[in-house]
Amino acid sequence: MMIDSDPSRPKQENKLGDESKRSIFGSPTTTVIACQIISGALVFVIFGNVLGNIGWKPTLMSLLVLQGILAAVAGLFLGLSRWWAPVQVLIPATAAWALRTEVPAWVWLLLFVATLLVYWNSARGGVPLYLSNRTTWRALSGLLPKQKGIKFIDLGGGLGGTTLYLARTNPDVEFYAVETAPIPYAVLWFRGKLSGLKNLHVGFGDFWHLNFAGYDVLYAFLSPVPMPKLYDKARAEMKTGAVLVSNSFDVPGHEADEIIELDDKRSTRLHIWRVSGRG
Ligand SMILES: C[S@@+](CC[C@H](N)C(=O)[O-])C[C@H]1O[C@@H](n2cnc3c(N)ncnc32)[C@H](O)[C@@H]1O
Repeated sequence: MMIDSDPSRPKQENKLGDESKRSIFGSPTTTVIACQIISGALVFVIFGNVLGNIGWKPTLMSLLVLQGILAAVAGLFLGLSRWWAPVQVLIPATAAWALRTEVPAWVWLLLFVATLLVYWNSARGGVPLYLSNRTTWRALSGLLPKQKGIKFIDLGGGLGGTTLYLARTNPDVEFYAVETAPIPYAVLWFRGKLSGLKNLHVGFGDFWHLNFAGYDVLYAFLSPVPMPKLYDKARAEMKTGAVLVSNSFDVPGHEADEIIELDDKRSTRLHIWRVSGRG
């Protein structure tokens, strides 16, 4: 197995941030809550009073925006991915707006349930839904081994864009996509059925329960959180000649055999580990 090759190569920083540097507050969700509580206390108890004493009465909205900005900055220092920053800025003001509107409670419940069904793996597995782009699909297509009948699996198939594109453009390859988030799975299943592609197989389930031995190419676009465990599982189960491709996320201590940087807006990096033999 070549999975531990070239330790001398400089470490790559992934573009979505590195939540594997766990903050003192644990998961991203608890870190966000802690940032909001601390920044809220700072802004309202200390800052609000100081400004009041010098005669300037800031509006509630400006204090809420300030709370969001402070929480965003704190989150970045605590190792949250950059995409959390705009979310953190919006949280206090949006929550206050939501409390003031007369939207019936069931609407919020519905929104919450819908979000839960889409981002099913965010809180539990640390893997939200975001999608590979077309440049990545093309690069993956170029990476496929040339033999007929090889098997490619997308670990967490999302809305199916990746496997649908690949199955259409590579009719001799069998494509599998497995997904546990209910709404993405429903979309993936429906798109698969609609496509009529015979070489696309969609499954509802958890990839941790799969044996990776049956696949030639494993593709993962997840987050830093599951990468060490995924690497260990892949190393234990993948067959000789198989390839693990991780979009954006490396494995601390296990440099990839190859890193391909793509010419897209986020300079996507595909980290590639090849299984070259056991022992
Ligand atoms: C970042 S998205 C990537 C989607 C798709 N692979 C792509 O590249 O466009 C990761 C997906 O993995 C799914 N996921 C996370 N953990 C999973 C697990 N243990 N089993 C199956 N799917 C999982 C998430 O629900 C999410 O849809």
